[in-house]
Amino acid sequence: MQPISRRQALLLGGLGVAGTAAGTAGLLWTLSPQLATGDGLIQPEEHRSTGGLLDVRLEAAPGPLLLAGRQASALGYNGGIPGPTLRVRAGDVLKVRLVNSLAEATNLHVHGLHVSPEGNGDNIFVEVNPGSSFDYEYRLPADHPPGVYWYHPHRHGTVADQIFGGLFGAIVVEDPQPLAASAERVLVVSDTTMDAAGNIPAVSAMERMTGREGQLVLVNGQLTPQLTARPGQRERWRIINACVARYLRLRLDGARLQLLGMDSGRFPLPESVEELLLLPGNRADLLVTTGTSDSAVRYLYQDRGSMTGMPAPGFGPPGPGGEPEGAVLATLRIAGEPDEAPGAVPAEYSPPDLRSSAVAVHRRFILAAGMGMGMGPGMMRFTINGREFNGARTDTTVAAGSIEEWTLTNTGPMDHPFHLHVWPMQIIEQNGQAVRAAVWQDVVNVPADGQVIVRVAFTDFRGRSAYHCHILDHEDLGMMGVLEVA
Ligand code: C2O
Ligand code: CU
Repeated sequence: MQPISRRQALLLGGLGVAGTAAGTAGLLWTLSPQLATGDGLIQPEEHRSTGGLLDVRLEAAPGPLLLAGRQASALGYNGGIPGPTLRVRAGDVLKVRLVNSLAEATNLHVHGLHVSPEGNGDNIFVEVNPGSSFDYEYRLPADHPPGVYWYHPHRHGTVADQIFGGLFGAIVVEDPQPLAASAERVLVVSDTTMDAAGNIPAVSAMERMTGREGQLVLVNGQLTPQLTARPGQRERWRIINACVARYLRLRLDGARLQLLGMDSGRFPLPESVEELLLLPGNRADLLVTTGTSDSAVRYLYQDRGSMTGMPAPGFGPPGPGGEPEGAVLATLRIAGEPDEAPGAVPAEYSPPDLRSSAVAVHRRFILAAGMGMGMGPGMMRFTINGREFNGARTDTTVAAGSIEEWTLTNTGPMDHPFHLHVWPMQIIEQNGQAVRAAVWQDVVNVPADGQVIVRVAFTDFRGRSAYHCHILDHEDLGMMGVLEVA
């Protein structure tokens, strides 16, 4: 595919947005000023650990906040969307004072970090009421994998609303040895919907069941921002899919893409890719070597199934009539003198591999979205092993130190991205196909009417935690279970 010019990119971006917004009268005019701007991509504020400690205050509060180039009645941490980027190292202590200035309860989850779920660690059972605060303390083990992680609220029932409102931010665990790159950028991709007055409207029951997809797809809270780089430059992009339900299939034609890893998993060698699929909650650690002409990061339609016979708002292919080239997420402008040849990529790494390990326990988890008894017409139940979430109940008890194999089965017509807290999962088999490498993720797609087998080594920590669908509407509707490692 030919690289497209910036002008075309902006045009496509506009059409893409207009296409997804077409069903909502009155929204279009509010978007048009964006087409003229193409503002430079802004990096969230950064906080870096020193001497083994990062101590930060995160205040969750309602806006007015700058979002998609406008003043929005949104939610943010420390007045920004996304919140500040937290940069730590293996072995560090991360202290976060979470101050709740929202009108409702909230809490904090450090998604993907391998830290204790107990006490004031990554404990999702903590509730921080409006007007109060809570001091979290996360101790990263000395061998914590480097990579990109993120934080977001995890109070059951309002997770999707609070993230859709703007509460999320990046966490980077630095590499032990720095990797040569001309620039490093954090790209937090989120989606939301705004009305003409800058309010984020409540979503319908139908959108919750499908998993809401916002009409605006943003990078660091900006609509189609512009990135500028020199030709032949190698940058490191840390991309987070912070969308509530949207699967992001990303392309950047005219540049060379090498994926270092996904989530906390690092590949043995960087993998050349043309496209990148990020499920809600996934992160990519990507090397981007620029070409010689302007280009654009585009997101393409990804079919994640739908409830039979149920229209799915905001769920169609982006762009008018299913724009095959997708819609523009950000533009990449190439300017200046060619860069010097980028340095060597990192040496080969051998990821842990559980494929030949002894498995202590085999378990099965059935993810189901089905018609409930005694519920309104069209209301679905979202369950794991037939049950909806109940924080007082422990669904799965695991012996500390053991390796387990989990078969995740989806009996419904929609994909579910399955997330396990604290412990990453190695993907062993997808729909009967063995995975040929050691692939580690903390969000794994369980396709409609399909099955995935993963293995987990329950090392280091004990305590109660959770696994759930990372279409956060499904999680809020009950598709979550409690795990206790004892
Ligand atoms: Cu990113 Cu339990 O979630
Ligand atoms: Cu789901």
